[in-house]
Amino acid sequence: MWPCVRWLHSLLALLCSAVLTWGQNCPAGCLCPDPHTVDCSGRELTRLPDSIPLDVRRLLLSDNGIPWIPSDFLVLYSDLVYLDLRNNSLSQIEPGTLSTSSRLVFLDLSCNNLTEIRSGTFRDSRSLIKLRLGNNTFLSVVSKDAFLGLTSLRELELEWNGLSCLDVGVLSQLPSLRVVRLEGNPWVCNCRFAKLFTWLMENRQKLPSGIEGMECSLPTNGRRVALNQLSKDSFRKCQETLTLTDYLIVIFSGVAVSVAAIVASFFLASTVHCFQRWSKASKADDEESDG
Ligand SMILES: *[C@@H]1O[C@H](CO)[C@@H](O)[C@H](O)[C@H]1NC(C)=O
Ligand SMILES: *[C@@H]1O[C@H](CO)[C@@H](O)[C@H](O)[C@H]1NC(C)=O
Ligand SMILES: *[C@@H]1O[C@H](CO)[C@@H](O)[C@H](O)[C@H]1NC(C)=O
Repeated sequence: MWPCVRWLHSLLALLCSAVLTWGQNCPAGCLCPDPHTVDCSGRELTRLPDSIPLDVRRLLLSDNGIPWIPSDFLVLYSDLVYLDLRNNSLSQIEPGTLSTSSRLVFLDLSCNNLTEIRSGTFRDSRSLIKLRLGNNTFLSVVSKDAFLGLTSLRELELEWNGLSCLDVGVLSQLPSLRVVRLEGNPWVCNCRFAKLFTWLMENRQKLPSGIEGMECSLPTNGRRVALNQLSKDSFRKCQETLTLTDYLIVIFSGVAVSVAAIVASFFLASTVHCFQRWSKASKADDEESDG
């Protein structure tokens, strides 16, 4: 019986040491409270930690100074479900970085230094449910197709950014959207804003603090007005004034009509001329045969 116990004992020791070395996979200075969580928040990191276990599912990196993530990051950590990069120094997301993150459910990029969200940034992030992009003070451009492909996204945070305008297509192409935060942006209530205003009016239940918390500034004098003081009528002028494209169409169709008229009159004139010559010639022929 003793040899058996001894054998069990050494097996246990082997298992223990395997677990211990596996546990040592935790990046230096970080915490790994469970086998799939790595917590490196608030460690004054200026780059991503080395040796993050490849099977990590929850990666907490908030409150550091990380300036960029390599574009193959989510190819490497393809099990990631929860990624917190809040309060770092990210100034851009390289194209393609998030396009392979098919398991990612939660992504926090708030309180960074992002300036632009380009088209197709989140292509194939089909599982993403919550996306936080708030408090990126210089974030002033969100491309029309920036969130294309986020078919599961329920919560989108874009509050306290530098947005003066947002194409309404950015929001209307999110089929699962339930909550959107847009307050604290320097919106300008011009004609480009009119469509967003209409969308907000029709979807005010999706704004957590309603339309009350939102303001925009008048294009004429910069005076700030609360959105709940505006109505569709405030933007009535926008339907009357022509856009640049309208002008181009008007000018172009004018030119086209003139060209058509010139061609037609030229054709008509030549026909008439021909006909006259032909009738003169036939008259002369007649006279000749008569005489
Ligand atoms: C952001 O992170 C820095 C450390 O990089 C920390 O000192 C600061 O308190 C954090 N800010 C917030 C709002 O948590
Ligand atoms: C954030 O970006 C702005 C302009 O893009 C720059 O002036 C500023 O220094 C950046 N701040 C940090 C902390 O990187
Ligand atoms: C975002 O910025 C606003 C205004 O500067 C501030 O009131 C708010 O606390 C910030 N939120 C976070 C989470 O840092």
